[in-house]
Amino acid sequence: MSIPVRLNGKDVTLDAAPGDTLLEALRRHGSWSSKHGCESGECGACAVMVDGVTRASCVMLAEQARGRSLTTAEALGTPEHLSRLQRAFVERGAIQCGFCTPAMLLVATELLERCPNPTLAEVKDALSGTLCRCTGYARPVEAVLAAARPSPAES
Ligand code: FES
Ligand code: FES
Repeated sequence: MSIPVRLNGKDVTLDAAPGDTLLEALRRHGSWSSKHGCESGECGACAVMVDGVTRASCVMLAEQARGRSLTTAEALGTPEHLSRLQRAFVERGAIQCGFCTPAMLLVATELLERCPNPTLAEVKDALSGTLCRCTGYARPVEAVLAAARPSPAES
């Protein structure tokens, strides 16, 4: 079946069978930044923003996205023009294997949109739903705080 959505600012049609998850439909469409992890809504790697709210796309049916506005990490920046958050992740060494990074960036983007000056606890809480096997979370937390409060040289 065909499912019209707005994906990263463009109207597109996802191709999905009944019962397909949003994650499966997005990856079939060629959007690879949402990662295929646990398939049970626990690791957070498959994050997609749906109408501005980050959701686990592995436990959402593709059909539930019909007519919705979807944002994946592909929309956050480009290699030539990284977003402030992406730059902070690179500069703070917050990326190791990178598997969790698109999801971390999406949840952090959502956090900074609704709370531009988050506390340490709010940053930790936002990142806590994304399982990271590599970083121990210290550097990603530091990067989000740095993106929220850039020094004059970074802004
Ligand atoms: S793959 Fe969706 S939460 Fe783990
Ligand atoms: S950087 Fe490897 S899982 Fe987070």
